[in-house]
Amino acid sequence: MKAMVMESVGLDNLRLKELPDPKPGPGEVLVRLKAASINYRDVLALQGGYGSRQKSSNLIPLSDGAGEVVEVGPGARRFKPGDRVVNTFFPNWLAGPPDPRFLMRDLGGLEDGVACELRVFSEDAVLPIPPSMSFVQASTLPCAAVTAWSAVRSHAQIGPEHTVLTQGSGGVAIFALQFAHAAGARVIAISSAAEKLERLRSLGAQDGINYREDPEWGKTAQKLTGNVGVDLVVETAGAETLKQSIRATRLGGMITLIGMVSGSKAELNLPILSMSSLRLHGIAVGSRQHLQEVLAACATHRIEPVIDRVVPLAQLPEAIRHVQSGAQFGKVCIEID
Ligand SMILES: NC(=O)c1ccc[n+]([C@@H]2O[C@H](COP(=O)([O-])OP(=O)(O)OC[C@H]3O[C@@H](n4cnc5c(N)ncnc54)[C@H](OP(=O)(O)O)[C@@H]3O)[C@@H](O)[C@H]2O)c1
Repeated sequence: MKAMVMESVGLDNLRLKELPDPKPGPGEVLVRLKAASINYRDVLALQGGYGSRQKSSNLIPLSDGAGEVVEVGPGARRFKPGDRVVNTFFPNWLAGPPDPRFLMRDLGGLEDGVACELRVFSEDAVLPIPPSMSFVQASTLPCAAVTAWSAVRSHAQIGPEHTVLTQGSGGVAIFALQFAHAAGARVIAISSAAEKLERLRSLGAQDGINYREDPEWGKTAQKLTGNVGVDLVVETAGAETLKQSIRATRLGGMITLIGMVSGSKAELNLPILSMSSLRLHGIAVGSRQHLQEVLAACATHRIEPVIDRVVPLAQLPEAIRHVQSGAQFGKVCIEID
């Protein structure tokens, strides 16, 4: 089979290689991957910046894939050849709260991912794709959509009475906007560009703020809510935004700490945090149950993943550079044939 392999740390060390076809063992399924999607974490992994336990040589990158079952191993009963499936982000985390044992395994970082033609999964680590969803669409869900769902629905339990602030137009932020809008909430989106804000409005954001033109956007968001503040900030930018996020959030509101595209070290004004009774809630993607809920919500609310572009596997290095640039709107996907 063909696989994209990071021979050693660095984007320039990605090579399309021929590797032996894997075979499914007991309780496993062999999947012919048709599509994969890129997350910001893949940019980090290719720079060797995904923690000390990351696989730093001969890594097959990317965590999120979709494809067709081609063979089932002994004792595997949940799937048959021909079934269309999408993989989960943490293969061992099926449901319930996070546990260190579940977080010790993830694809495209700590172990090989899905930028390849064939991959073996435990039958518990894949879910069926509904007929209405393409392989490319399904491949956008395991990391970005599950993380957004964990934040907006599972932890913050957002409903029609709430206001949510999302940051930028990347994978997690757009899914968060779509899930909050589908729940009936009001969404305020911030972004770097007027055209992107226009598109975020067309997806359901009621208000948009350009954070480059309005560095005090936290105050603006507060004004937009009648000086009350938003109920939830889906924090994906990190160092540059946290101060304004705190400013934007209402007394007793929540900030879900997800990402750090603008940096990972932020100063916190502790008296402001405590006096405003804020809840800072860290998110680590989510479980298979969350992915199941995402698949159901997409079908019920007719939510279509927003896809920036689809490129062939051989163009993975350019696609990663595109994500690194921050120019994308939604998910950058890979077609595997
Ligand atoms: N904790 C978890 O479980 C988890 C899961 C998934 C992702 N993450 C993290 O979440 C972050 C986002 O991931 P992603 O895959 O959605 O990223 P992505 O698709 O690469 O999106 C990044 C977007 O962030 C926006 N942005 C950049 N600088 C910003 C700033 N200063 N203020 C506001 N927005 C800014 C840009 O949109 P505009 O041009 O529109 O501003 C950019 O397109 C990453 O740090 C990733 O590692 C964490």
